Amino acid sequence: MTDIELPTERATRELAARVAPHLAAGDLLVLSGPLGSGKTFFARALCRALGLPPSERVPSPTFTLVHEHPTTPPVSHADLYRLRDENDVRGLGLDAQRDEGRVLLVEWGETYVDALGGDALVLELRLAPRRASFRATGPRSSAILAALGAPGT
Ligand SMILES: Nc1ncnc2c1ncn2[C@@H]1O[C@H](COP(=O)(O)OP(=O)(O)O)[C@@H](O)[C@H]1O
Ligand SMILES: [Mg+2]
Repeated sequence: MTDIELPTERATRELAARVAPHLAAGDLLVLSGPLGSGKTFFARALCRALGLPPSERVPSPTFTLVHEHPTTPPVSHADLYRLRDENDVRGLGLDAQRDEGRVLLVEWGETYVDALGGDALVLELRLAPRRASFRATGPRSSAILAALGAPGT
């Protein structure tokens, strides 16, 4: 899982489907990468893989900042692109949402991991060519990463 090719949207959907069963209430997944690299696309695919009903849309939270989705476990999907600093991020109370049992998915969150409650699984997406890699910043995210890399998973 260290360097993954994502040549097609289908490959990105398959990666999301592979990650989904390893996520539990309270986990933080940070989606990093340039505009258009597929952060929102991956978040949508992940919500589908977590059982979001087809009738429910997953809008980009670029302007609304946070959306809650009726997945299992429930997901909060945030985009911090428009925020200025860590105080703005803390003001959103996203770390508390983890304590309430939600999976927190955050676009543009890599510089705010502490304010998001720490221990992030970071998915770094790249463009041209489209590739991805994971890294972990704490014990829980390291355990997810190890599980993702294990044979047969
Ligand atoms: N392999 C791929 N993985 C993800 N998205 C892809 C892929 N190929 C093309 N796309 C397109 O790239 C765009 C990614 O946009 P988006 O997810 O909004 O990016 P971001 O949130 O990172 O700015 C979408 O329009 C999607 O359809
Ligand atoms: Mg986006």
